[in-house]
Amino acid sequence: MRTILSTWKRPGKAAIEAAVANSLAGGGLLDCLEAGLTVAEADPDFIAIGKGSLPNSEGVLELDASVMVGEDLKAGAVCAVQDLLPMVSLARMVMERTDHVMLAGDQARRFGIEQGMVPQDLMTDEARRRYQDFLDNKQSAMAYVHSVEDQPPCDTVTMLARENGKFVAASSTSGMPFKKPGRVGDSPIVGAGIYADDEAGCAGATGLGEALWRISASAKVVELMRKGATAEEACREVVEFLVKRVPKSREYQCVVLALDRMGNYGAAITHGQYEMYIAEGESITYREYHGIV
Ligand code: GLY
Repeated sequence: MRTILSTWKRPGKAAIEAAVANSLAGGGLLDCLEAGLTVAEADPDFIAIGKGSLPNSEGVLELDASVMVGEDLKAGAVCAVQDLLPMVSLARMVMERTDHVMLAGDQARRFGIEQGMVPQDLMTDEARRRYQDFLDNKQSAMAYVHSVEDQPPCDTVTMLARENGKFVAASSTSGMPFKKPGRVGDSPIVGAGIYADDEAGCAGATGLGEALWRISASAKVVELMRKGATAEEACREVVEFLVKRVPKSREYQCVVLALDRMGNYGAAITHGQYEMYIAEGESITYREYHGIV
């Protein structure tokens, strides 16, 4: 049976429903994650992914995405890319059509256009309004992230899938709201935001990228599963390590999620509440996790 995970309450629901629909139509493991993230990126109501997400400190939207396939450890990623959608498809093109793992900024955009993608304005009136609020309040990006109560900051959509011993992972985000131009977080970084290895399982992350990247969060979860930990045990151990080694992560939401080779899923969060959708075949369920600190 195919299992799919998707992060956060609102974008996660849209993403997992699209992923399941793609699976039922015969899509492969990576196809279904690409379909899920494509839908979430296109919805202007989600403020941390794709169209309508929050721009950098100069009012420019810069997006990141990544994909990884556990069979051969192939991966593709793009970071700090403007004007294109779906970013997850661009990351997949880097994996499938180049000899590289990551393309960045203007050159990633140029590659996307060469591959047939059409630039578009991804800013919405709501994103412009929030940006103006940010300017009026003269906050730093980190202070803004800390003050947000209504939606989790950096609420990247990260998706994982497993079927018959095969694993894939993918992630898409606009990163930290109002970040310094050129800032890149964990999501497009293989080992930080995602990791997949058919010999061990797959993992992903969402939340404050600066903290998650510093401990190579996703690779750490996969390495613990390789040594026999369940997905839940591995996620918990990595979040405990994160709060110990990067104390600032106690104040922010930092999440890891995983699928192991024994058929389990798991997740853990530093602080606050995290919501995850789980699809097992056609059946979709929803779980909430609470911070360990
Ligand atoms: N996890 C998203 C970011 O920090 O960019």
